[in-house]
This record gives sequence, C-alpha cells and structure tokens, in this order.
Amino acid sequence: MKLLEDRIKKEGQALSETVLKVDSFINHQVDSEFMDALGRDFAEHFKDAGITKVFTIESSGIAPALMTAKHLNVPMVILKKQTSKILNGNVYQTRITSFTKGTSYELTLFADYIQPEDRILLIDDFLANGEAAMGASRIITESGATLAGIGILIEKSFQRGRKRLEEAGHRVYSQARIKRLDAGVIEFLAEDAPVTDVEENE
Ligand code: G4P
Repeated sequence: MKLLEDRIKKEGQALSETVLKVDSFINHQVDSEFMDALGRDFAEHFKDAGITKVFTIESSGIAPALMTAKHLNVPMVILKKQTSKILNGNVYQTRITSFTKGTSYELTLFADYIQPEDRILLIDDFLANGEAAMGASRIITESGATLAGIGILIEKSFQRGRKRLEEAGHRVYSQARIKRLDAGVIEFLAEDAPVTDVEENE
C-alpha cells in the first residue's frame, strides 16, 4: 500500500537489522486521519470475507483495528495482555512469548465477546515471528469461531511470521512488507511477492 510505504520512507527509522521505529505515527503518536485511511483499505480488502468482528491485541493495534471496524460496521474487540492466568471467570487464555521484546504474557479474551458463528478479522501493527497472531488464532479456534483474515500494517518479511501464518492456512494481507532493514536502510517487498522468495532469519 503506497500510502503506508511513503509514510515509512518519510518518518520510519531503521534502528538495526531487526527493528523499525515508527513512533511518530503508529506506536507513540497516532495520526487519526492516516489510521482511518488504513482502516478503509483493510475493510475494502476483506469486504467479501463475511467479517462479524475485528480483533486486535493491545496496544498499538487498537487504532487501526478500530478504524477497520468502523468501515466494516462491526464491533472491535481488544485481546488483553495479562501478566498471570485469570483463574475465575469464563475466559480464553494462551501464553505468548515475544522474541523481539523478550517478554511473555497471557493473551486473554472474555468468552462473552466471541461466539462460534463469528468470523474474525485480526488486525495488528507488526508481524515478526507471528507469535501473537498464532496465539490469537488458538483462542479463536478454541471458541469455535473462525479466523477469516489477518491484516497487518508492517510485515517484516525477513522474519518467519508470514510463512507460519500462511502454512497454518490463514489469509494474510500486509499493507507494507519490509524485505531488509539496517541502520538507516529500509527496503520494501512488493505486495504480491511470493513468501517463499524471502530468506528466513530468526
Ligand atoms: P510476533 O508476535 O510477530 O512474533 O512479534 P514479536 O513477538 O517479535 O514482537 C512483539 C512486539 O514487538 C509487538 O509489540 C510488536 O508490535 C513489536 N515489534 C516487533 N517488531 C517491531 C519493529 O520492528 N518495530 C516496532 N516498533 N515494534 C516491533 P507489543 O509488545 O504487542 O507492543 P504494543 O506496541 O502493541 O503495545
């Protein structure tokens, strides 16, 4: 998606071979008009998927997920990150470990906010190793609902997340795909470039 690529070129900062900083419009300060445009693009892309709810994982996915939900005219649900298991109440939980941040949390959803007939679109800001998305998929499957699509703002195509999600049978759309990062270098991959052409790099 040209709009997002252009913004990354203008304001993104490649800090290393693995980390892209986009604090000025996604992770710290949020550009609401820009998020609205990204949400419209996700809604258009998944308009034929019969989506009944948009899910995201707190916190940076919330803004684009809300805008996507607005354009699809469906509710948005935030999967929470809890530090420990909730032992009472009707909840779905699964443990996620972040390689990028070296942290773990219990991804948590109250059962009231998902029904077996739901078709879920998951929206998140970054796709790296796919741990968070795979965890969301486990929760959705456990509830009996369907994960009908995954929309990502920035896919780091040199990490294995996209491949894992597609091998698990998921429909993935990334608005920007990053082929390579290095200090001061950001290279993009075409939207339709095959995933198998991408080097694995954990
Ligand atoms: P994975 O789920 O795909 O395996 O990703 P990973 O664990 O490696 O990354 C987890 C966290 O790190 C996520 O944030 C993700 O957005 C963030 N992240 C990964 N790569 C980058 C990057 O290159 N740049 C930036 N800015 N963030 C990155 P989170 O812990 O969920 O935090 P939040 O911002 O959503 O609160």
